[in-house]
Amino acid sequence: MRSIKGTKVFSEKEIKDATELLRAGELVAFPTETVYGLGANALDERAVKSIFTAKGRPSDNPLIIHIGEEKDIENLISEGVPQLAKKLMDKFWPGPLTLILPKSQKVPEVTTGGLNTVAVRMPDHPIALKLIKETGLPLAAPSANLSGKPSPTLAEHVIEDLAGRVAGIIDGGQTGLGVESTVVDLSREVPILLRPGGVTYEELLAELGQVQIDPVVKSKFANESKAAISPGMKYRHYAPQAEVILIEGKEDKIKDKIKKLINANEDKKIGVMVSKELEDYYSGVNVKIMGSKDNLIEISQSIFKLLREFDEEGIERILIEGLELKGLGLAIMNRLRKSAAYQIIEV
Ligand code: TXA
Ligand code: MG
Repeated sequence: MRSIKGTKVFSEKEIKDATELLRAGELVAFPTETVYGLGANALDERAVKSIFTAKGRPSDNPLIIHIGEEKDIENLISEGVPQLAKKLMDKFWPGPLTLILPKSQKVPEVTTGGLNTVAVRMPDHPIALKLIKETGLPLAAPSANLSGKPSPTLAEHVIEDLAGRVAGIIDGGQTGLGVESTVVDLSREVPILLRPGGVTYEELLAELGQVQIDPVVKSKFANESKAAISPGMKYRHYAPQAEVILIEGKEDKIKDKIKKLINANEDKKIGVMVSKELEDYYSGVNVKIMGSKDNLIEISQSIFKLLREFDEEGIERILIEGLELKGLGLAIMNRLRKSAAYQIIEV
């Protein structure tokens, strides 16, 4: 175990020390299959409050509760598990899918940001599952970044943002998916996709037969997201210090537009973030490859990490290639549009 600014950094073998901190009402960040989460006992009002303080998170933005076994959901929701929820749990848990259902009295209002619904998921990561089981508690855990910054996919990102602000961090290396879980609201008549993630819209539709998409998910304009059902979707998010411009359209046109923008921005320190398919088109500028469009997980895994790297390199303006809104592309584009604060150029 090492210690940075008073925060203990644990290895995978030291989960037991981390469970003790959590049981004592302290905060511990841990890896999941999506991004690192900042955990606390979801039923302890004081512990949950300290999550909001550590992250600088607005108090009306509710948290996801992480559980280790399906039956743990029963304590957290007000009625039995609805049939549709059971279907999704059987198919996608453990995994990157968060379900919204009416909450039980046992869940404090701080955890749900004052809402009468609760968000629950079972993460698919050995460290997360072991931590939850050994702690014996449902863990509220938002992404373990300072509010507004790109989500953490490495323990180093958590250390950068939260060392000195939390009791512990478990280092489990790089997370798998790189973007956060899919959030589906099952508390209404028709299921609504509130946040796209690892489980795709297409997969949900195949399972449920009917899913609405909250307009905020595909929104290209900041003012459209002010009325979000999911409070987290209305804030500026995933943002590096640099200004971000997202270029959307057909690959050929995006390719040329980025070239023009590089030339027009010679006075700025420019960074370019594109797919492997466009790798060879830009020279003399800082180019980072997100991954191949044939393997979108490569891209989802790398976007937040690359945004942080540009900041470290002092880049002032980042030009990013837009992708299609299909499959995992919907989740990736939702994050990129937000990190661009909706500065989008369509070509
Ligand atoms: O993959 C993930 O989901 C990660 C890892 C750590 O599990 N967690 C995560 O948490 O992304 P966070 O707090 O960064 O995002 C939670 C999202 C927010 O957009 C929040 O508004 C929404 O879930 N949410 C939580 N409870 C809700 C509720 N009762 N109704 C609607 N939206 C809710
Ligand atoms: Mg977050």
